[in-house]
Amino acid sequence: MRADYDLTELSSPAGLDGLDADRRAAVRAVAYKGHSPFGAAQMDLLPGLELIANFGVGYDAIDVAAASARNIRVTNTPDVLNDDVADLAIGMLLALNRNLTANEAWLHRGDWSSKGDPQLARKLSGARAGIMGLGRIGREIADRMAAFKMEIHYHSRSRKETPEGWIWHERPEDLAANCDYLVVALVGGKATEGYVSRSVIEAMGPDSVICNISRGTTIDEPAMLDALEAGRIRGAALDVFRVEPDLDPRFLKLTNAHLQPHQGSATVETRKGMGALQRANIAAFVAGKPLLTAVN
Ligand code: 8YV
Repeated sequence: MRADYDLTELSSPAGLDGLDADRRAAVRAVAYKGHSPFGAAQMDLLPGLELIANFGVGYDAIDVAAASARNIRVTNTPDVLNDDVADLAIGMLLALNRNLTANEAWLHRGDWSSKGDPQLARKLSGARAGIMGLGRIGREIADRMAAFKMEIHYHSRSRKETPEGWIWHERPEDLAANCDYLVVALVGGKATEGYVSRSVIEAMGPDSVICNISRGTTIDEPAMLDALEAGRIRGAALDVFRVEPDLDPRFLKLTNAHLQPHQGSATVETRKGMGALQRANIAAFVAGKPLLTAVN
């Protein structure tokens, strides 16, 4: 982008305040990355803005209604990250179930020689999977879990076309009550805030696990923490949190959770794909061609 455009690089939207008015007025497109809010106040600092090209499939940080009201187009980077996000969900569930982190530490500390084998782990294959939100990423996760010989349950607003035998639950509580691994793959934003509510978490069985690779906002976080702390559910595998990176310190005390610092799409291959799609949207906009992956 440095080679192709007259680029202003800012580490966060707060940096807009420090630019002089002429520089701000010259901006036609923003290549956005991150999760800080980009709303009406930021847009109004850029009176010539016509495009916000987001680096990420989730665009909940961007106020799309405010953008539309100002004739600003928004694009995202769908699909190119589906595999990685789904892979991480499976990886985290395996890490949690098979005690991968603790067992490696056991080996490194020399406990294997001094104490013998670590405690037995838990089996993932063959259990009941519950996918909350069977969109593009949810479907990739379900396909992987089906390959692990798991029975697939899901909840989405309406029944989806699926392989035979997948079970749709109209109510999120019914999904929670009928699976061992509840994997949250909802879109973020206001519409799904707290969708995995206290009553959904209370419907989960005592041996069940919750996994989130979507947005921290989709789960009632205090309710989930209460359940984990009290051992009312067996565990959690979480890549996203309500507040990032300074997550609720209650998470750090848990011994029944595998936590990752929002790594879903964070591979060299996928980040290259996301960057290429973000740049392709900007190039299309500059050339006056249709946007590749428009949101509004
Ligand atoms: C982030 C993500 O975009 O695509 C998404 O919605 O959550 C991630 O891929 C990435 O962390 C860059 O902010």
